[in-house]
Order: sequence, then structure tokens, then C-alpha cells
Amino acid sequence: MVFYPRALTDKEASDRFDHMVAVCRAVPFGKQPVVELSSGVVVGYTGVDYICFEDQTWLEWGYRLVPERRGLGYATEASQALLAKAHQTYAGEVLAIIAPNNLASQNVCRKLGFTFWKQARVQGPVRNLYTLAVGNAPQV
Ligand SMILES: CC(C)(COP(=O)(O)OP(=O)(O)OC[C@H]1O[C@@H](n2cnc3c(N)ncnc32)[C@H](O)[C@@H]1OP(=O)(O)O)[C@@H](O)C(=O)NCCC(=O)NCCS
Repeated sequence: MVFYPRALTDKEASDRFDHMVAVCRAVPFGKQPVVELSSGVVVGYTGVDYICFEDQTWLEWGYRLVPERRGLGYATEASQALLAKAHQTYAGEVLAIIAPNNLASQNVCRKLGFTFWKQARVQGPVRNLYTLAVGNAPQV
């Protein structure tokens, strides 16, 4: 859970998993498994969840890979595949919220087409915010 406030308890992790499944039922590009084709192993997730920021509900894109599968370009590849589905099924802004020192994540989000919006405090710490217009949403 690097770049997350803390590791989750088993119960919290289980609840988080159930929440991701529920979001996936409502949003076709909700956080879902990244499966390594060569092994069939689930190596992480990518996709959106809801977040409230500045009194507005956003879809926030996030990704996370197990440590041994980082550095292989999987986050970009999987996110691009899921973004194609997002472009077909949704029109609106999507947000990415990234710790300023998380350079790998910012590289991925820029490769996905996100552009820097601003720095702001999100639930406490300062974060770099990026946005992406999905579907027919106008660019800001
Ligand atoms: C962020 C994460 C999903 C990136 O996925 P990935 O498939 O491993 O991405 P890569 O390792 O190919 O890195 C993407 C880019 O960042 C670069 N990079 C990787 N680690 C870096 C580091 N520590 N410092 C600077 N650049 C780094 C890579 O060289 C690559 O550069 P490129 O775009 O020029 O090819 C993955 O590192 C991860 O799961 N991290 C922990 C969870 C996390 O931080 N999630 C995001 C929270 S906002």
C-alpha cells in the first residue's frame, strides 16, 4: 500500500474489495483486475472509484500493481485498454490524485493523456491533481 496512508486490516481490505466490485457493477471502467496474459495471474488493478473533492463527486482513476510486476509498463497498457471502454461508455472529466513524489504514477497518468490541473490538499496531504476528458467531454 505504498503511497497510501497505511496498510489496511484484513476487514478493511475485504470491504475495499467488495466496494470495488460494487462500483464495477455501476461503472464499466470501475477498478478491476489487471491480469498478466502470460501467467493468468492477477497482478493489480486499474480503473475508477467515486471521490468527493471540493463539493463535487468525481470519478477518480487509480492503479496499483504488486511490487514484482512494476516497471513493465503494465499500468499504462491495462489503463489504456480500460480507457477505451470509458471513452465508449462515458462523457465527462476524470480525476487523478497523485502524491507529488510519486513520479512513476505521474508518468503513467501523463501517458494516458491526463494533464496537470493544480496542487491541492486532498483529505489532508498536498496532492497533484490531473484531469482527463473522457468521451465527448470538452477539454478544460
Ligand atoms: C504507479 C504504478 C502503477 C506504475 O505502473 P508501472 O506499470 O510499474 O509503470 P512503470 O514502472 O512502467 O513506470 C512508468 C514510468 O515511470 C518511470 N518510473 C518508474 N519508477 C520511477 C521512479 N521511482 N522515479 C521516476 N520515474 C519512475 C518509469 O521509468 C516509466 O517511465 P516511462 O513513462 O518513461 O516509460 C506502479 O509503480 C505501482 O503500483 N506503484 C504503487 C501504487 C501506486 O503508487 N499507485 C498510484 C497511486 S496514485
